[in-house]
Amino acid sequence: MSGAAPAEPTAPLAASEPFDERDGVIWLDGAFVPWRAARLHVLSHGLHYATSVFEGERVYDGVVFKLHAHSERLCASARELGFELPWSATELDRATRALVRAQHLRDAYVRPLAWCGTETMSVSPRGARVHVAIAAWPWPHVFAPEAQLRGVRLATARWRRPPPDTAPVRAKGAATYATGALARQAAERAGYDDALLLDHRGLLAEATGANLFLVIDGALHTPVPDCFLDGITRRTVIAAAGRLGIRVHERPIAPAELDRASEVFLTGTAYEVQPVRAIDDRTFPVGGLGATLLRDYRDTVAAATASADR
Ligand SMILES: Cc1ncc(COP(=O)(O)O)c(C=O)c1O
Repeated sequence: MSGAAPAEPTAPLAASEPFDERDGVIWLDGAFVPWRAARLHVLSHGLHYATSVFEGERVYDGVVFKLHAHSERLCASARELGFELPWSATELDRATRALVRAQHLRDAYVRPLAWCGTETMSVSPRGARVHVAIAAWPWPHVFAPEAQLRGVRLATARWRRPPPDTAPVRAKGAATYATGALARQAAERAGYDDALLLDHRGLLAEATGANLFLVIDGALHTPVPDCFLDGITRRTVIAAAGRLGIRVHERPIAPAELDRASEVFLTGTAYEVQPVRAIDDRTFPVGGLGATLLRDYRDTVAAATASADR
């Protein structure tokens, strides 16, 4: 990585108060508990051996977008790690809606989390109780607002997405976030907004919390999600492109192909459709297809919100 030292680093917004010292309620194992009382023991299996899976959901005008898809992915992620949640996706949907109402949230983030408890210290989680918590709080920005509008700057990380036979890459689990945490810290220290991760073969993969799209000759090109998360937003954007007559090529993409890209953007629940204005010392214009797809995404969200069960 060289050049392009940022004149004005765009650090992500810090939380204004620690996450354990807030008011309100958290849904924990089937009941609402006071926010500060939602605690776990230090000898929890999930904390030691990463038997922990989670979701990130976004609430628009009181409605969680794609709620059932997220609840199903939480259940599937747990299964990938060898444990079953004691709640069905439909039961988790119901709990999430009740929580959003109880917290009086309009625009918010929801974090469901499941982990194995204290009944065993063996590496195998067999016999450990599976806990589930759901917390929700007012919408936090992933990036400073001006970075969001002007486009974010990514630094290519030295950490890579692992091959699918060395990590549970389809699960949204704590284990696979260690790489992202290292990559994003390094990127932020170097003055960038986020990191671009390559995969184990050296091909383009994704950012630390979002999938990657390139625009080449008016078509979308996106890496095959065979060793990282196939995001719900990614699938929504691919469907939108189909509707809008934009061709989509899902294929292995080498980093050198960034030279042919007229635009780059990221997709994710928190990022929505986020333009990228630089990767290392390559720069990209912002606007174009990314802006069209962001508008379409927001229209899709608004339509889903207007017709949703509350
Ligand atoms: C590593 C990673 N990749 C991709 C995504 C995008 O997934 P989604 O669109 O389902 O939010 C996320 C966000 O959950 C993520 O953390």
